[in-house]
Amino acid sequence: MTTIVPESFATRWSLVGMTALVTGGTRGIGYAVVEELAELGAVVHTCSRNESELNQRLQEWSVKGFTVTGSICDLASQYTAEDYSMIMATNLESGFHICQLAHPFLKASGVGNIVFISSVAGLVHANAGSIYSVTKAAVNQLTKNLACEWAGDKIRTNSVAPWFVKTSLIDQLISMEVLEEKKIMSDLESRTPIKRFGEANEVSSLVAFLCLPAASYITGQTIAVDGGLTINESFAGMSLTRWSLVGMTALVTGGTRGIGYAVVEELAELGAVVHTCSRNESELNQRLQEWSVKGFIVTGSVCDINNVGMNYPKPTTEYTAEDYSMIMATNLESGFHISQLAHPFLKASGVGNIVFISSVAGLVHASVGSTYSITKGAINQLTKNLACEWAGDKIRTNSVAPWFVKTSLIEQLISMEVLEEKKFTSDVESRTPMKRFGEANEVSSLVAFLCLPAASYIIGQTIAVDGGFTINGFP
Ligand SMILES: NC(=O)c1ccc[n+]([C@@H]2O[C@H](COP(=O)([O-])OP(=O)(O)OC[C@H]3O[C@@H](n4cnc5c(N)ncnc54)[C@H](OP(=O)(O)O)[C@@H]3O)[C@@H](O)[C@H]2O)c1
Repeated sequence: MTTIVPESFATRWSLVGMTALVTGGTRGIGYAVVEELAELGAVVHTCSRNESELNQRLQEWSVKGFTVTGSICDLASQYTAEDYSMIMATNLESGFHICQLAHPFLKASGVGNIVFISSVAGLVHANAGSIYSVTKAAVNQLTKNLACEWAGDKIRTNSVAPWFVKTSLIDQLISMEVLEEKKIMSDLESRTPIKRFGEANEVSSLVAFLCLPAASYITGQTIAVDGGLTINESFAGMSLTRWSLVGMTALVTGGTRGIGYAVVEELAELGAVVHTCSRNESELNQRLQEWSVKGFIVTGSVCDINNVGMNYPKPTTEYTAEDYSMIMATNLESGFHISQLAHPFLKASGVGNIVFISSVAGLVHASVGSTYSITKGAINQLTKNLACEWAGDKIRTNSVAPWFVKTSLIEQLISMEVLEEKKFTSDVESRTPMKRFGEANEVSSLVAFLCLPAASYIIGQTIAVDGGFTINGFP
């Protein structure tokens, strides 16, 4: 199969020309993040407290052809005898201060990015010690504050929250007998839908994705990489394999326009064979023709599958029984049924993936009609149910929740005068920290990432692609 990689695609999925600072990069998740960013073309600087280990890593990275520099430093400058101060200083204050120090450089770059490594212990009780958990919850909140405060400086801030990943931190806890190996393993298996620990490079892939230009409308998010824990109450191959969909087949419903169209292109560019559908034959044929010229393998059928998003925004008191049934059938029931139908094929593949297109309207009130919003809220819950129920069948399920993206769906709402263009645009700008609409390919990039082998420990998540809208309480 010949896949044409246009320059814009290559640029969106590359970190060439970027510089990254990764604290604590000699072992564990930090080590995997250094490798992931360097493989994607970034120049990386890292640090640790152990000089000989740092030098050994720098030597290895140089042999691999990565541009990585390092320094010996202890980021926790305020050690005291008290555990509390020590953990606060190491896990929280240092991150806060380093962000303050980095701010002018990130701002000057025009494409600044901060990715905190938080923990699921900052989202739920995880028996990891309350002080540790408090610092991680504070990091998750800091993510929201910085995302909104610095959006105008073109700095995106996100946080990645892993569950147990086998690094030296965990080995240390086992050796201190804080965790008893056998018991942890069985507890983990019973509580985690994926039934295993994560690998460091299953965390670093998300860190790297969040740094890519492809993630340009994602800010303020805390995303769990936890094999489904929080929604249940070796170098695993070259990055080329982990960051590729060659050999995979995808079904994208409603692919001739808008977000679906961008998803078809993104998956095809990453090497997947794609099948799509829409109701309009001539538009579908035109798209298939364009994709064939681009070298993509895309097939299509004309059908009304009722598995796309539609909306009649009205005051709740004015919805008729027909409006209600139509929106439920199109936005929710169809997605439920197509997942049931697809289940045997996804299971047989051994690497099945479902990515629902939800909406921020399923997370907060967004003035687009209560019926539409409840279907999206239900999709977010279905995401959690299928993620846990089908984890054993090796099917991952996630959901992507966009804020306003200028597609024909929005143009239609404007033409129906449900949204008045000028006021609508200024309302969106005033409430969104990034002060703009999203683009369809800023949503499709996350859909594609969630389908990649690189995302193999992410399940049950609903991730907003919203320029910070849902984490902005008071502008
Ligand atoms: N745009 C936004 O701001 C936004 C924000 C949040 C969430 N979303 C969600 O994103 C999803 C896609 O929206 P979009 O804005 O990309 O819409 P869009 O630009 O209107 O594109 C919809 C696509 O689906 C096809 N389609 C529509 N109804 C169909 C049916 N019954 N059977 C088969 N194909 C059908 C359309 O082709 P035909 O019309 O020719 O069939 C077209 O290819 C929806 O679930 C929506 O709720 C959008």
